[in-house]
Amino acid sequence: MPVFDASVHNPRRVKAARTAQDDFARAVRAGLSRSPRELPSTYLYDAVGSALFEVITLLPEYGLSRADERLLRLWAQAMVQQLPRSLLVAELGSGSGRKTRWLLEALAARERLSYFPIDVSATALLKCRQELSELGAVSLVGLEASYLDGLQEVAARRRPGQSLLVLFLGSTIGNFSTPQAEHFLREIRRRQEPGDMLLIGTDLEKDVQTMLLAYADPTGVTAAFNLNLLARINRELGGDFKLSGFEHVVRYDAVGRRIEMHLRSRHRQTVSIPAANLVCQFREGETIWTETCHKFRIGELAGMAERTGYVPLARWVDQEWPFAESLWVAAPNADPNADP
Ligand code: AVI
Repeated sequence: MPVFDASVHNPRRVKAARTAQDDFARAVRAGLSRSPRELPSTYLYDAVGSALFEVITLLPEYGLSRADERLLRLWAQAMVQQLPRSLLVAELGSGSGRKTRWLLEALAARERLSYFPIDVSATALLKCRQELSELGAVSLVGLEASYLDGLQEVAARRRPGQSLLVLFLGSTIGNFSTPQAEHFLREIRRRQEPGDMLLIGTDLEKDVQTMLLAYADPTGVTAAFNLNLLARINRELGGDFKLSGFEHVVRYDAVGRRIEMHLRSRHRQTVSIPAANLVCQFREGETIWTETCHKFRIGELAGMAERTGYVPLARWVDQEWPFAESLWVAAPNADPNADP
């Protein structure tokens, strides 16, 4: 697994990049051959997409990231009081590390600690290192990996007596479908020991207009973020999508309690994507589903914790933009003979 460093040429990284490209081509081929068509939201985050997402977090209409950061800033001390000493901290999808700083500062005032940001983006890890460079009591080791592979690596580094705190902030859990979300939480739990902790951020349901506007901002940044997925297919897989032929569409599914982002074809058109060995005919109005953003209810969080091997310990809810930060403890290991 590539441990982040600043080396200029790294053959393992070149090979990993080729594999990632093949995976992307396969995912595009599979998703665009389906009916209705879809593309995995993880591919929204190349360098351009990640930069656009950073801008989204600054939009007045998108209160989610500010709420997440506000809770961490206001309650960092209270959170630290709930945490065991001698901690390894692993963060899934660190981004720039801006909001995590509050918690790390509060923890570092108590003891030295190791912090492992895990991200598939080397650029994000670099930004994170720059943002947190002057936190003296924090030793930072970035892992350029998928969340679960990275977490496995961190778990393998723990020494006797150390506890593992996993941070999964920003409501990224909402970008999974409900069954996938619970499966993923169980996978996190499998890499932890009883008594380890998970701090998880979840965006809460609010009035529909507010939610729609957060994903259909009038400046068009979220539209650009969505359309960049087609531009990425053009850049990396030789596609010939005409971006002006597609529009950003946002819907709210009140039953699934989720915002959906789609790209809708403005007219009949044919698109070829040579590296995915694919030619697609789009009808006028046909859509590609690109992202799901589940909106949680406070009342469902405890059940989610229990079904995935955790016990809820504490929770902090933002007053301005309904958003919850929940601290869960890993429950004792289940009896392997018990029913699932
Ligand atoms: C990263 N994730 C939590 C964002 C969300 O709100 O679900 C992604 C996003 N997509 C469009 N705007 C923000």
